[in-house]
Amino acid sequence: MCIRRVAAVIVAAGSGTRLGANKPKALVELGGRCLLDRALAGVRAAGVDHVVVTVSADMRDDAAVVALGSQPGVCVIEGGAERADSAWRGVQLAYELLGCPGEGEATIVVHDAARCLTPPAMIERVIDAVAAGARGVIPALPVVDTIKVVDGAEQVVGAPQRAMLRAAQTPQGFDAATLVRANRQWQQSQGAGDAAVVTDDASLLELIGVPVQVVEGAAEALKITNPIDMVVAEFYLSRG
Ligand code: CTP
Ligand code: MG
Repeated sequence: MCIRRVAAVIVAAGSGTRLGANKPKALVELGGRCLLDRALAGVRAAGVDHVVVTVSADMRDDAAVVALGSQPGVCVIEGGAERADSAWRGVQLAYELLGCPGEGEATIVVHDAARCLTPPAMIERVIDAVAAGARGVIPALPVVDTIKVVDGAEQVVGAPQRAMLRAAQTPQGFDAATLVRANRQWQQSQGAGDAAVVTDDASLLELIGVPVQVVEGAAEALKITNPIDMVVAEFYLSRG
């Protein structure tokens, strides 16, 4: 397996509306450390060379953000209005930090700060699958519910076979040049007004027909979204 340089983008610029804390979600503390700090530690433990963190304007002066921005190899920049905008800003800087590599030369992983307890071993699984030749990799878990497709009137119009469904997590890993190319094409379609709605990074590759491989996710990589998720995360922390 060839040694490829690896950069990570941690998107942390969201407000955390559903969590409803009195501060941006990435700065909420879990067991005495903020979610962003924990997410960054996980990525660093997986041996990533460069980390770009996207935060909102009102987070920039926070002591925790200033402290992590002063760590070697960590750059803090401002994100955008939607997750995809934040990710694209981060990916552009990560790509530059990697020296604008060609296809097959470097890896970028994109991670949600909200998945703050993601095991480093899972992050390594994603990085290793890219190094082994996959241009897009997602960690994912089987779903437990039956998922229905509905129309605008809440009428069920379909139910995909559950055995074929996976819940996608982060970090998602990519060949760096391929991710940049996929993002550029999506930006162009946005300019033309016919962009698809994307809620994860791998969707950008899917839109241009690049295969995306699944590796095993982890329950601990849950995305802190609603208040109940903090309780679950505290349980995982207490288990060590
Ligand atoms: N995110 C981001 N920039 C945005 C929106 C989201 O960087 N404009 C990040 C969040 O900080 C989070 C990740 O994307 O780490 C996943 O988003 P989500 O869980 O939806 O977080 P929020 O958008 O902050 O939460 P909510 O939707 O409840 O407001
Ligand atoms: Mg959101």
